[in-house]
Amino acid sequence: MFPDQLPTPTDHFVVRGGHALRGTIRLSGAKNSALKLMAASLLCEGTVELSCVPRIADVPVMADVLRGLGVEVTLDPEAETASLTATAEPDWHAPADAVTRIRASISCLGPLVGRTGRARLALPGGDRIGARAIDLHLRGLEAMGATVLERPGEVEVVAEGLHGAQIPLDFPSVGATENLLMAATRAVGTTIIENAAREPEIQDLCRMLVAMGARIDGIGSPTLEIEGVDRLTSVVWETCPDRIEAGTYAIAAAVTGGDVVIERVRPTDLTLPLIKLRAAGIIVEEGADSLRIKAGDLESVDVVTLPYPGFPTDLQPQLMVLLTQAHGTSRCTENVFESRFSFVAELARMGADVEVDGHHAWIRGPVQLHGTTLAGLDVRAGAAGTLAGLVATGETTVHDVHHVDRGYADFVPRLRSLGADVERAPSDRDA
Ligand code: UD1
Repeated sequence: MFPDQLPTPTDHFVVRGGHALRGTIRLSGAKNSALKLMAASLLCEGTVELSCVPRIADVPVMADVLRGLGVEVTLDPEAETASLTATAEPDWHAPADAVTRIRASISCLGPLVGRTGRARLALPGGDRIGARAIDLHLRGLEAMGATVLERPGEVEVVAEGLHGAQIPLDFPSVGATENLLMAATRAVGTTIIENAAREPEIQDLCRMLVAMGARIDGIGSPTLEIEGVDRLTSVVWETCPDRIEAGTYAIAAAVTGGDVVIERVRPTDLTLPLIKLRAAGIIVEEGADSLRIKAGDLESVDVVTLPYPGFPTDLQPQLMVLLTQAHGTSRCTENVFESRFSFVAELARMGADVEVDGHHAWIRGPVQLHGTTLAGLDVRAGAAGTLAGLVATGETTVHDVHHVDRGYADFVPRLRSLGADVERAPSDRDA
């Protein structure tokens, strides 16, 4: 099942370290793609049929947001499919309770304005990793002729009719690029988004929109050119693999001294992370849609997080765990989310030697980590804390794992299938 019945912030993971991970796991689709593909159903005159929809908690929440907007949504967690059919005239006022629980609900803004000329959304929730402003989304919609009304806790956007525009983004924001491109598919004329984000998940969204009838040039490049069309129609689409999930398991394998094959991954989406893992002494074998990760003698590396194709911020906490086990001093520079280093305090309590100065962190290793109680501050910090537990002495408890549920399908069962000693407690000890 999708873990939608798990509003259990009290759940925690209990991890006992010391086991090298070995075996094969097969992954599903990307969280950051599936949620946006679901939002794109608002643009569709017909049905969006998705496969490889990951069994993560954000999926049913997104389904609730869309149902509140008049989309008929059927989820089949066992088959990992979703079927979404928007009404001819979707509602434009999203239900606040679901919206505030999930960052990706902001992705409804662009398609709603594109389809109905109007949207009202409560300001979104999600991870607490920095300010997470939406000014670029709003300024871009204004450039296309919309009027933006910002009120405390909500935003309303009204457009008599969107027109094409030249939109240079200050920063290649993932969310802003997605919203603007979805709105632009229904604008009159051509929209050019400059300095666009080009994450694989955005490319996935672009390609699905093209399959629905959109006209988009420059997919995968920093300049997207979108010519508006009158209608977008039904599509059957397979969600692209989750490079962050794959990277997390790759690091888990390497940090525990293991040997793991990860299937349904596109190694080309992970070019820079794989360069860094190899530089850190890990043996990486690439297949067409698989990776084999074998541990080696870990050496320090420097990483700088940047928008794709840079090193992903969503892998930075996990990599930091790995670097605590590497010989020498590594430097991590975080350029995307200002609060991402909040995980460092958790790692330090396990014995990690990490010094932070602004957006740089120096990690000296190797050190023996010791089990303790951690807060899973966000989806990636919760996963990283679990990896730290896999190499720590004694027992590590990771709290607030509802964050991990938002981004990792079957996290505990998958780790256990590779030989990890980890369990979910107290509500779900059999997981
Ligand atoms: C998405 C991903 C998230 C990933 C991030 C960066 C989803 C659901 N989440 O988040 O997992 O970590 O991309 O790869 O896909 N910013 C502004 N103004 C804006 C928009 C963004 O200042 O209008 C800033 C943000 O505060 C942040 C940075 O730009 O510091 C990156 O944000 P963005 O690329 O938009 O990330 P998200 O779409 O929120």
